[in-house]
Amino acid sequence: MEGETKAARRGHCVVLAYPAQGHINPMLEFSKRLLHRGISVTLVSTRFFCSKLQKLPGSIIALETISDGFDDGGIDKAENHKIYLDSLRQVGTQTLSELIEKLNRTGKPVDCIIYDSFLTWALEVSRKLGLLGVSFLTQNLSVDSIYYHVNKGKLKLPLVKDQNISLPGLPSFEPCDMPSFLYEYEPGNAFLDLVLGQFSNIEKADWIICNSFYEMEIEVADLMRKIWPNLRTVGPTIPYKLLNNNNSNNTFEGEEDYGFSIFKGEECTKWLDNQPKQSVAFVSLGSMVSSSKEQMKELAMGLTDSGISFLWVVRDSEEAKLPASFSKKTKKSLVVTWCQQPKVLSHEAIGCFVTHCGWNSTMEALSLGVPMVALPLWSDQRTNATIIKDVWKIGVRAEFDENGIVRREALKNSIWEIMKYERGCEVKSNAMKWKNLAAKAVHEGGSSWKNIEEFVDSLSHLNV
Ligand code: UDX
Repeated sequence: MEGETKAARRGHCVVLAYPAQGHINPMLEFSKRLLHRGISVTLVSTRFFCSKLQKLPGSIIALETISDGFDDGGIDKAENHKIYLDSLRQVGTQTLSELIEKLNRTGKPVDCIIYDSFLTWALEVSRKLGLLGVSFLTQNLSVDSIYYHVNKGKLKLPLVKDQNISLPGLPSFEPCDMPSFLYEYEPGNAFLDLVLGQFSNIEKADWIICNSFYEMEIEVADLMRKIWPNLRTVGPTIPYKLLNNNNSNNTFEGEEDYGFSIFKGEECTKWLDNQPKQSVAFVSLGSMVSSSKEQMKELAMGLTDSGISFLWVVRDSEEAKLPASFSKKTKKSLVVTWCQQPKVLSHEAIGCFVTHCGWNSTMEALSLGVPMVALPLWSDQRTNATIIKDVWKIGVRAEFDENGIVRREALKNSIWEIMKYERGCEVKSNAMKWKNLAAKAVHEGGSSWKNIEEFVDSLSHLNV
């Protein structure tokens, strides 16, 4: 088999994902880019997380597991997050080493571990086994740079109230627009330690790969590359076929290969096919955060009052919070528990995206030219929302009230701003500009394309 010979010559990467939907998605897409270039790839995450993954038709990446010590329930079974993360480190180190030994016996020896930057211990495994160790930053460089500066003591916590934050290469941020772990600083918070801990040994990694693309973050990318000369941006990590307006003749990508999902998806493209062009607001608040019953009611009423057609992803765990009188399917609206989001965003019926501004959702919308209504909730999302509105100028921000709720009126106004008012034209034209830049970055000769080629060449040299 010609493909196999090429793969054997070009190397075998273990790609280790942190067990969360927003973390495995970009690593899966990156894996596909490697596979396409003749690299063998084994995608790895924890047993419990992988047991929930629905393998979509046409998926092409080999999947293996390690243990986090909580095989029958993952993080929810641990007494607290710190206990979980300690166990993941300890049991993960051992089971990752065992897995690599097993893979080595299959005739395709592993050359390289590409690990989620949260899993710094994987670099120690790579060193012990004499492999390349590559840190993969799943969030954007702006957010990474903020955490890096905190880690190095250049930005002190707690943040000073009402004092704007100016960091090199970044716009000025109000404290409330910093990632939630910094703004709502709690010493000892396990997630704060996780995001700051990413940089504990990053300088020792052979490569640092970031889930962003150069044109999106030029200043901060230039700056961080001075600190980490082996930093490379490889995004946007969304199905290549969609970046090519569904015209790709790159059959390698697989017809329906939009990855693995921990939630069961529902068909909604048929419904979208019957909606006029750019007429639908797509609403999805990611895979992790849950909203209060009051917030769900305000969203339901705001969407209905807007008079705009909408497609709303309400995960199973959130469904009971919908108002009793709210209908999940009408002529103008459809509620699904999960969908193939990148595919939906690329549908011509979509006019705007009401999003929590998780990094993947943000990059998917930007790369597919969809203007956003930002409704940030947690983690890096407020920072992303600020950049969406003020730097890329591809969205508006829904206003939260003093109780942290986006009221129906505020949501309706934000959707109208994009779908009905003058401001929408500017935002839409910027969105198209970014869409073109995203496609350029991943196509032959583009910034991410060159970076991936360089990385792949470095793997090939190991095998000559
Ligand atoms: C969170 C953070 O907010 C994010 O910034 C961080 O980098 C990872 O953790 P999450 O809530 O999962 O992530 O949001 P996001 O990063 O946007 O990832 C969600 C992923 O699920 C996206 O790739 C999106 O396409 C996918 N998705 C979402 C679906 O495929 N179908 C859906 O119905 C909803």
